[in-house]
Amino acid sequence: MIRMTNTKLHAGLNKPIKILHITDVHLTYANENDTPRHQALMQERFRVFQEEGGFPPFTPKEYFEQAIALAKAEGALLVCTGDAIDILTYGNLAVFKEIVKGEDLMFSPGGHEHQRRCVRTMEEPYPYRETARARLESELDHFDLSFESRLIGGVNVITADNSMDYFTRETVEAFKRELERGYPIVVFFHDYIWDKLLNLKESYHPNVRLTEEDYRYSHEMIELLLHHPLVLTTVSGHGHCDEERVIDGKTHYMTAGLFKGQARMIEIV
Ligand SMILES: [Fe+2]
Ligand SMILES: [Fe+2]
Repeated sequence: MIRMTNTKLHAGLNKPIKILHITDVHLTYANENDTPRHQALMQERFRVFQEEGGFPPFTPKEYFEQAIALAKAEGALLVCTGDAIDILTYGNLAVFKEIVKGEDLMFSPGGHEHQRRCVRTMEEPYPYRETARARLESELDHFDLSFESRLIGGVNVITADNSMDYFTRETVEAFKRELERGYPIVVFFHDYIWDKLLNLKESYHPNVRLTEEDYRYSHEMIELLLHHPLVLTTVSGHGHCDEERVIDGKTHYMTAGLFKGQARMIEIV
């Protein structure tokens, strides 16, 4: 079964609410539509995550199914912050869609949702990244991959995509509109807020052609997340281990990979 890290947040609610946070499932499936290269890669990557997870008793798919059942049993909102699939294969998309079919969860992608091989998505050329994103958006059309918000029990739960190591102008503007609603906010995304790549101020790779304006918006978002009084915290994945970071007096959270059999239960009171 899943090992839980328990986190309590204070928002002055009359009735507590629960959120089950899962991240970095790293499903590794390929089917008959995938190339032999992808089929071999998925077998190899399955072994990589088995080893990184210390050979856990269940597969990532089984842990994902357990998390869905657990969220229901606990009356918790399920939020998944990406790297649900390890590589953008037909097999992975089919398995992921089957698992979440008819289920109520919020989802924000990670870099791995966009990957065709084990190379950081931001290091791929633009045309590939755009094609991968469009494919993902059409396949997972029941999620808004860029930004979503949901008001539950007086708390505004938000997913905001930063899977490409920055926040887009659209995401930042959507977030600012949510701040105007005045509810306490918990923000979920893939890449943890203290990551150096998310905090870069200039291009780090020739394929990355972000404008100064792009960086300005992304930094404005990070400033709001760190210092706006309505933001209770940020919750992320990507690092595959549990971590808490206090930045300017606010505690931010990273949750271990579900492929290891770990998840975080957040209670907001
Ligand atoms: Fe990951
Ligand atoms: Fe990641």
